[in-house]
Amino acid sequence: MVRVGLHVAAEKWLSGYIDSFRDEKGALHPLMEVKRTHGLRVRDNASMIASGLGWSGELLECGLTAALLHDTGRFPQFSRWGTYYDGASQDHGDLGEKTLRELFPAVDAASAGRWEDILLAVRLHNKKELPKEISPSALPLVRIVRDSDKLDVFRLVRTHVEENRINDLLPRIAPAGGYSEALVREVASERRGSYNNVHSLSDFLLVQLSWVFDLNFAPSFHMLRKEGVLSWMERILPPEETVNGFIRSVLRHAELMESA
Ligand SMILES: [Fe+2]
Repeated sequence: MVRVGLHVAAEKWLSGYIDSFRDEKGALHPLMEVKRTHGLRVRDNASMIASGLGWSGELLECGLTAALLHDTGRFPQFSRWGTYYDGASQDHGDLGEKTLRELFPAVDAASAGRWEDILLAVRLHNKKELPKEISPSALPLVRIVRDSDKLDVFRLVRTHVEENRINDLLPRIAPAGGYSEALVREVASERRGSYNNVHSLSDFLLVQLSWVFDLNFAPSFHMLRKEGVLSWMERILPPEETVNGFIRSVLRHAELMESA
């Protein structure tokens, strides 16, 4: 059994770890503060999804712990490189796993297997492709972290766009402008887009829309609809025939999966 309260212990540890990045006045860099609150909201999303799925006991405890710790790597990443771009620094999922292995207090031997599952969910939370072989005990954790993370990023991006400060979150994109042709072709044929082809906010939103095909659990689709994320995107994306077809397929998929 995982020791009772692993999730509570993880929250305490993470809070102390983040404190180590505060300046002498106790202030955290605003971009690290974004990641601190993101981690808490991702945990809360996981809690809602888990409740929709009827998870309890050890599975629930591990799901919440993995969600809470998923972005641990962001803190050493920003501290060392001053950026959240993995390409210009290090993969933050890998860095999170490494940091937890080095700094998180040892878990008892009986919990070691579940702890490994949590570390795997942290490492894989940001990977475009998942490995074919993931153990049945780790798979639900990997999935709930990826869904919970995406749901909060949908929310974050929308808030930043509505408040006209998207460049605080995504400094490298143009807030206005149409789609990049390569990206439109990519999403139309592969149902997913790569960041290399993202130049404008419209491009970024298209890539975000493609994440919908990656969501795993019916309660995640339910939350997405309840928050009006997809209808908001549909409203603000510039109309273009190829893209309209893609948007329709995303909406259809979300509707089907919610009732699956
Ligand atoms: Fe992340």
